[in-house]
Amino acid sequence: MERTKVNALLALDTTPGQVLVKGWVRTKRASKNFLFMEINDGSCLKNIQVIASDDLDNYADIERITTGSAVIITGDLIKSPGKGQNWEIQAADVQVVAIAPETYPLQKKRHSDEFLRTIAHLRPRTNKYGAAFRIRSEMAQAVHKFYHEKGFRYLTSPLITGSDCEGAGEMFRVTSIDPETIQKEGKIDFSKDFFGQESNLTVSGQLSAEMFALSLGDVYTFGPTFRAENSNTSRHVAEFWMLEPEMAFCDLDGNMDHGEELVKYLTRHALDHCSDDMGLFMNFVDKSLRGRIDTILNKEFDRIPYTEAIDILKKSKKKFEFKVEFGTDLQSEHERYLAEEYCKKPVFLTDYPKTIKPFYMRVNDDDKTVAAVDLLVPGIGELIGGSQREERLDVLENRMKEMALPREHYWWYLDSRKYGSVPHSGFGLGFERFLMLITGISNIRDVIPFPRTPGSIDF
Ligand code: 4AD
Ligand code: MG
Repeated sequence: MERTKVNALLALDTTPGQVLVKGWVRTKRASKNFLFMEINDGSCLKNIQVIASDDLDNYADIERITTGSAVIITGDLIKSPGKGQNWEIQAADVQVVAIAPETYPLQKKRHSDEFLRTIAHLRPRTNKYGAAFRIRSEMAQAVHKFYHEKGFRYLTSPLITGSDCEGAGEMFRVTSIDPETIQKEGKIDFSKDFFGQESNLTVSGQLSAEMFALSLGDVYTFGPTFRAENSNTSRHVAEFWMLEPEMAFCDLDGNMDHGEELVKYLTRHALDHCSDDMGLFMNFVDKSLRGRIDTILNKEFDRIPYTEAIDILKKSKKKFEFKVEFGTDLQSEHERYLAEEYCKKPVFLTDYPKTIKPFYMRVNDDDKTVAAVDLLVPGIGELIGGSQREERLDVLENRMKEMALPREHYWWYLDSRKYGSVPHSGFGLGFERFLMLITGISNIRDVIPFPRTPGSIDF
């Protein structure tokens, strides 16, 4: 007989008679002549209840089943008299695949997120993390669906690079030189390194995406990015996934329109395709989530220039830890105030001072600001960072000189401004931050399978 996944079983209207189910025991309780087991196979939040009666040949074995044990069940799918479930299985055969000993750490129903982080290899077996990672998977599929429907091309940009896109110098070095050689020579000779020059893990696929947008039109990259920034916050990890669309013939307004459409589409997709799992988060994790999601779906996002935002922050009666002035980078407390308290919905901040933004952003006519855009969202702060790109060769060259960027690493980038340069725009959306937004999970470590943070790379 073919195996049926629990999600498919629970969706049945009529019983097919006998079914075959494979999964893990969440709970077991014994009665006088039979016992009940709740089986979960990871396909959905819900379990299927199995009843095993003591006339089964191996009932003694079945009685030894514990929480976490793996089983294969054959039996009749019958209407369940119990509340909250449609179906249950009257077992005809219970095969015990593996018994989990009492040391299995997930005995209780509830564990703290902090504890579960110490067993990140087991936490997807809990309701909450199973749901989170099913949603993560569905959202990754939705990203590709969205872009496929819009006719964007998917670009797999390189993970090892010779240039620093963001210019923040927060990169992980890639080298094949033996640390002992470096110690012996007292320095690193990059010309003898694998690539014959310094190389790093990428902080963004943007520069590659720009080259392909200027060739294929509309493209996106979606992959891991790496940052060696020492920020031990609930919103930063050293390895995270970034979604980066890049669009030729697109200005800053078009960029924002696209960002808003994307965020709304993905959020709607989560509600439509993960309703049980999303229900867990709305009912048990964050009671304000439903309202926040409604706002995302139904309200138009705000758009405010940075300079105006600085005024708003200065005039607010709020006590901030960090002072704001034109020219300062906004801290998370400022970003959250603007999104949560002032706008009460997602807000695009535009036109930041050029002194705090990377070289590739288009310089505005005031020569003080650039066509940058960040999307700030309630509960998190920055979700998207992007810009219109500087398409004018002379302006770009000047900016690079000002910022002392080594020309030899960017000659190919400059070529794109020599040959058929056009206005173009794009942004990066932090995939984990988006998952936090739609699940209400408040720590980024809990939406990524095995988080990498300063001082911690277990698993
Ligand atoms: O604002 P960022 O640094 O933008 C760029 O890298 C651009 N090159 C993207 C582009 O225009 N194509 O990063 C984009 C987003 C942020 O808004 C944030 O959501 C996320 O990436 N992000 C992080 N997420 C988790 N951990 C970190 N350490 C992150 N750093 C950035
Ligand atoms: Mg940013």
